[in-house]
Amino acid sequence: MTSHSPSVLRDGLLAGKSAFITGGTSGINLSIACRFAEAGARVTILGRDPEKAQRAADEVRAFGADVLALTADVRDYAALDAALRASVEKHGPIDILVNGAAGNFPAPAVGISSNGFKAVVDIDLIGTFNGCRAAFEHLRKPGACVLSISAPQGSVPTLLQAHVCAAKAGVEMLTRVLALEWGPAGVRVNAISPGGVEDTEGMRRLAPSAEIQAKMAEGIPLKRFARRAEIAEVALFLASPAAAYIHGVVLPVDGGHSLSGFGVASLAG
Ligand code: COA
Repeated sequence: MTSHSPSVLRDGLLAGKSAFITGGTSGINLSIACRFAEAGARVTILGRDPEKAQRAADEVRAFGADVLALTADVRDYAALDAALRASVEKHGPIDILVNGAAGNFPAPAVGISSNGFKAVVDIDLIGTFNGCRAAFEHLRKPGACVLSISAPQGSVPTLLQAHVCAAKAGVEMLTRVLALEWGPAGVRVNAISPGGVEDTEGMRRLAPSAEIQAKMAEGIPLKRFARRAEIAEVALFLASPAAAYIHGVVLPVDGGHSLSGFGVASLAG
C-alpha cells in the first residue's frame, strides 16, 4: 500500500492554508502531509531524523506543495518552538497543527522502567502539549484547528500498553480541555483515534508477524486494519471547512475496534 490513494473529498479544500505536522516524516502523519499537500496546503513536516525528513519532504513535494522539512524532538520545547517560528516565517500563520509524533513498544508494566514509561508519556502526551502550547501564538485566529493523533489505548485498557494507555488518555483529555479554552478564540481542537494501520511503525512494533496481524484483525468488527490513506482522509475532513462545527471530539477511525477492544475475537472463540 502506498502512503496515498485517490480521495473522495474534492480538490483544493485546503488551498492557501499552512499545516505543521509533528512526526510528519513517516506513517500516518506522512500520509496526512501528502493529503494536505494535494488539497493545496503549504506543509511543514517535523521529525527527529534529518535524512528521513528530507526523503519525506520529497514525497510530499510530489503533490506540488510548498514543503518545509525540519528536525526537532517534540520533547524539546525550545527546539519545537524554533521549528514553529521557522515554519511561520516561510509559510505564514499556522492554520492546521497536527500532533502526530508518538513512541511505543509492547511490554508488561513490570518490564517498563520508570524512564521507559516516561519516554512514551514525554513523546505522546508532553509532546502534544508542547506542540499545542508553542503553536498557540502562531495559530491563525479565528480559523485554525488542532488535530492530535490518539489511539484506542486512550480509552481501551490494553495489555502491554500501560505507558501508551496513560499517555493517550491524557492526549484525549487535553484535547477536550483545550477545546474549552481555545474555542472562544476560534481555534477548533479535535483528535483522531486510529486503530491498527497497515504499513506503519506502530504495526511493525505491536503486530510483528502476519500471524499476529491476522489474529488481531479478526477481533476488529470490520475484520481488517485501516489503510494510511483512510486516516489521512479523515484528517483532511476534520481540518476542512466541512468540519467547521466539530470541536472537542476524539473521533475513532478504527473499524469498530474501540467498541470492544479485541474482545470480539476472544468471545467468538
Ligand atoms: N521494553 C522495555 N523498555 C524499553 C523498550 C522495550 N521494548 N524499548 C525501550 N525501552 C526503555 C529503555 O530501556 C529506556 O529505559 P532505561 O533508561 O530505564 O533503560 C527507555 O525506554 C527509553 O529508551 P530510549 O531508547 O533511550 O528512548 P528514546 O527516547 O530514544 O526512544 C522510545 C523512545 C523508547 C519510545 C522509542 O521506541 C522511539 O523512539 N519510538 C519512536 C517510534 C515509534 O515508537 N513509533 C511507533 C509509534 S505508534
